[in-house]
Amino acid sequence: MIYSRVVGTGRYLPEKRLTNDELAETIDTTDAWITQRTGIKARHIAAEGETTSDLAYKAAVQALEASQSGPKDIDLILVATSTPDLVFPSTATLVQEKLGIGGCPAFDVQAVCAGFAYGLSVADNFIRAGSSKKVLLIGAETFSRILDWTDRRTCVLFGDGAGAVVLEASDTAGIHSTHIHADGQFRDALCVPSGVSKRYADVIEANAFVQMDGQKVFKWAVKEMGNLARRTLAENGLAADEIDWMVPHQANIRIIESVAQKAGLSMDKVVVTVDQHGNTSAASVPMALDVALRDGRIMPGHKIMIEAFGGGFTWGSALLTM
Ligand code: UT7
Repeated sequence: MIYSRVVGTGRYLPEKRLTNDELAETIDTTDAWITQRTGIKARHIAAEGETTSDLAYKAAVQALEASQSGPKDIDLILVATSTPDLVFPSTATLVQEKLGIGGCPAFDVQAVCAGFAYGLSVADNFIRAGSSKKVLLIGAETFSRILDWTDRRTCVLFGDGAGAVVLEASDTAGIHSTHIHADGQFRDALCVPSGVSKRYADVIEANAFVQMDGQKVFKWAVKEMGNLARRTLAENGLAADEIDWMVPHQANIRIIESVAQKAGLSMDKVVVTVDQHGNTSAASVPMALDVALRDGRIMPGHKIMIEAFGGGFTWGSALLTM
């Protein structure tokens, strides 16, 4: 039986850190409101000209180093992103070019904030099927480019960044299971309502940015991620106290706390980075994973549950042994 296993992680945050107090100088908000409602204190913003593939490449280099692999060992590149550099080619091929490893397949996965969970499922299936032996999976975003910086309901929530993992074929698990879901009937609750085949040439300002029904997203995220956490445990025959760490999507501390409670996990088993990163969409889970691995909280042999929820709606989870 072939399994996939995470053998290295990395992350990259753009240099510029933007605090709540700095935001409060330009829009009608306060550090107290943002902290109470979301748990966010600061986020990072890509420099002018710095693109998603630039962030992705830097995270990838760290993950390759951590896995003691060279770029040439990689036989599949996946980039989970909703903020690609270009309409095409894919951000994955741009990262491939930066790494100098032409030849292997490279493609993007678009599931917004659930993108990393989706990418993990794709990578796991490629490895289990014997099609790939070493996969580079990156979640990378520059959401700052699709925010209306005058809309206090959305611009305080998001940030830029990239997280990467290297997955390798192994005869021990590794990834025990992945679970991905979507329900397109909620397409309007969280979206950027313009694109390539709709209003591309005449994008009007208001359509070029993130729009969100915050309360609807909040309720569904808590409901679906809570249910999925319980199902993920049940399908693996595990009780909550057998999980060492939950690494959830970092959108809002109140969502994270509610999901942990529904899953029966105390917050001291949950990795939280939303305070310092904000919501970095597909990058949030791999960055949080990397933070907790590098600071020694997550250790080899630990059982980890990953969870994410995003526009679509899309949502997903994975259970793995590090
Ligand atoms: O990755 C998945 C993507 N997104 C999410 O997971 C986000 C899910 N939703 C949320 O996290 C929350 O719904 C928000 C943080 C977006 C909003 O929190 P809320 O507790 O649902 O606030 P609300 O939208 O009900 O707004 C409450 C009040 C409103 O004022 P009134 O109408 O009561 O006078 C807003 O206008 O707070 C006001 N408000 C703000 N005030 C200061 C909204 N944004 C701000 C702000 N600063 N930035």
